[in-house]
This record gives sequence, C-alpha cells and structure tokens, in this order.
Amino acid sequence: MNSYSELASFASYPITSLPVEWHIEAEGVRLIWDDQHVSLLHTFWLRDNCPCSECVSPVTREQLFEICDAPADLHIRDVSLTAVAEQQRLTICWSDGHVSRMHPGWLRAHCYADAARQQRVSVQHTWDRQVINRHLPQHDYQQVMTNNNALLTWLQTQHQWGIAMIRNSPTEVGSLNHLAQRIGMIRETNFGRLFDVISRSDANSAAYTTVRLPLHTDLPTRELQPGLQFLHCLRNDAEGGESILVDGFRVAADLRQESPELYQALTRIPADFYNKDRHSDYRFRAPILQTDADGELTEVRVANFLRGPLDVSANDVELFYRAYRRFIEKTRDSRYQLYFRLDAGDTLVFDNRRVLHARNAFDLKSGGRHLQGCYVDRDELLSRIRILQRQQTVE
Ligand code: OGA
Ligand code: ZN
Ligand code: ZN
Repeated sequence: MNSYSELASFASYPITSLPVEWHIEAEGVRLIWDDQHVSLLHTFWLRDNCPCSECVSPVTREQLFEICDAPADLHIRDVSLTAVAEQQRLTICWSDGHVSRMHPGWLRAHCYADAARQQRVSVQHTWDRQVINRHLPQHDYQQVMTNNNALLTWLQTQHQWGIAMIRNSPTEVGSLNHLAQRIGMIRETNFGRLFDVISRSDANSAAYTTVRLPLHTDLPTRELQPGLQFLHCLRNDAEGGESILVDGFRVAADLRQESPELYQALTRIPADFYNKDRHSDYRFRAPILQTDADGELTEVRVANFLRGPLDVSANDVELFYRAYRRFIEKTRDSRYQLYFRLDAGDTLVFDNRRVLHARNAFDLKSGGRHLQGCYVDRDELLSRIRILQRQQTVE
C-alpha cells in the first residue's frame, strides 16, 4: 500500500463535478460525470498519471514512475469513489497490487474526450485594421506594475490579440527592464539585453538607421525567434517614423482561403535568413509559416533585409516566389495594417512570432527618435499567466 501525495502538480484543481458512474471496460475506465460528461480513460494513461508519492516526487512534483515498468497485461481490478481527508478520490486498484487515488478535479481538467480538448483550446483573436482599431488592448504602466490582477488582464489579452499598448511608461533610459521583468526573464541577444533603436553611423542593423523598415519579424535568423518584442518610446518627434503592424496569422489565414496551394508552399519550402556582422554570423533556415503537429499555424518568419539566397530544389523555386510575393503583397494591403505614431511613454508589446512590424523612414533634421527594445520568450509569458492564475485559485 502506497502513501498518498496531494497532486502531481503545484496548481489546484477545484472539484466542480464528480463522477456518478464508472465502468471498467476493455480499454480502461468509462466515467460518467454528474453533468453528463463522459470520459474514457485508458488503462496505461491512468497508471501513467498515478499521483502517489511512489510515482511522483512530492518535492519536485516530477514523475518517478516509468510506464514501461508496468506489466504489459496490467489491468484494473476495482474502481471506487472514496473520501481521502474529506475529499473525493477515484481509487483504482491495479492487478499488480498498486493503488492510485486520482483527484476528480485533476481528472476532469485533463480529460481527453474531444469535447474536453476542444474547450481547452486557448482563444486567439486574429485582426485586421478595422478590428484592431476597435479592440487594441491598452493598459496603464503603474497599474500593471503594481497590481497582479491588472498584470494578468494585460498578459491574457496580450496572448489573445498578440499585441498591447502600455501607456504612461516612464521615459527614463533602462526603465523597460522593470516592465519586461514583470513577465519574466529578458532574452539577451547580440544586440544587447535592451537594445537602443537609434540612428548610428556604425549601425549593424537597418533598425539602427533612419530608413524605412518593411514589415518583418525580429531575429528570423535564429532557431527560436523571440516571442514578445517590447518597443519603449523615449522620444519620437522627428518627422516620419510611424509604426505599422500586421497580424501575420490573419494574413496567412486569408491566404489559405484564397490559395491553399500557396499557403502550403509557405509552410513547406524553407527560406534562409542571415544576420551578418563583424563578429557574429547567425543563420537559420525555415519556412515562412510554421505549423504544429495539428496543422495549426504557430509562427510567421519574415524579414526581407535578412533573407539569404533561396536554396531549395529547382522544382520549388517558382512556386516559392509565387507564394512569397503574394504573402508580402497581402501584408502591404492597408486593410490589414494598424498604423500609428508611438509617443514618448508608450510601450508597444507584440508577439514577434505572429505580428509583423514596420516603421516609416524618419528625418533627424526635424527632431529626435529613440526607442528601447527587448525580448521575452513566449514561454515566459505563458508561465507568468499560469502562475498568476494559480495564485487566483488558491483556496
Ligand atoms: C526594430 C524595429 C521599429 C521602429 O528595432 O526591430 O523594427 O519603430 N524598430 O524603429
Ligand atoms: Zn502510484
Ligand atoms: Zn524589428
């Protein structure tokens, strides 16, 4: 008989529903819940997720048990709903004598019936000019710095829309550090921990000149493009330098409708990106559109000024150019473009793997322009959201 540890997790799982019937079947256990939801949980899945202290370390909450150590003919002897410390647990007695006490809140939160998985898909709103002009999430610097609920609201909308504007930021050099660290670790790169977007005679990037920057993602030259990009405006009173942002997910979705062939080509044919400098030489090769195992779009990778020569099978060259030209042409359509001027004290934050950004050329004879930027990976954003949610649900 094994001792019991609360959960294989640090998060809490409120019990909002309980199983009212359970049937041992050939595949595993079928649970019927008090709200009629049905979970069919397979034998090995249940055994793999036993939260007892033999199977999961109560200190690290990491799994100790390895499922390949279960006998191939493992089966369930008995299932019952029992009370442990006044809380209901689904108790499973296994053919090898092991006992698992599963938390109903945890089980329901991890149920993999189609309907349950559907509900867990996080909502992301794609946008064009009209939609984002109405819905651009805006937050107050002091609020998000001092109030965790305001922080969570920012970060959730940040994830859903891929963009947010933080107003009333201080205009001291370096103050962006504090805002970014509200989320998590800053991702340092060869451009620095914070980078100064200012015109320099020894520029190692088009960003550090006064030229127009076409719509792009930053650091497509790296295996992992930074997730969030921050652009903190310290001064922007030179003529020009307006910002343009486009939701790459929306453009890609529309291209998919318009021409599945061109969309597929951009998800398949790799492009090369080079970041040439005197002391570094970063390169990466990947398709313009990245999809996951479910075929969902996860990333856009594009920057004309960093593209290397196309190096693919001759059979793909014409198709690539057709698809790439059409995609870029669509991003140039003003109906997709959020267009505005950053003012001193504004911090623009966007998902650099989704939202393309551009700026117009500017003229330093007419004033000054200084932004500071930094990157924070998507992982940091999602982790902070989960931690803030966990603090909200602590009983
Ligand atoms: C950059 C960039 C935009 C701007 O630094 O990568 O795109 O408005 N800057 O200067
Ligand atoms: Zn166990
Ligand atoms: Zn950029």
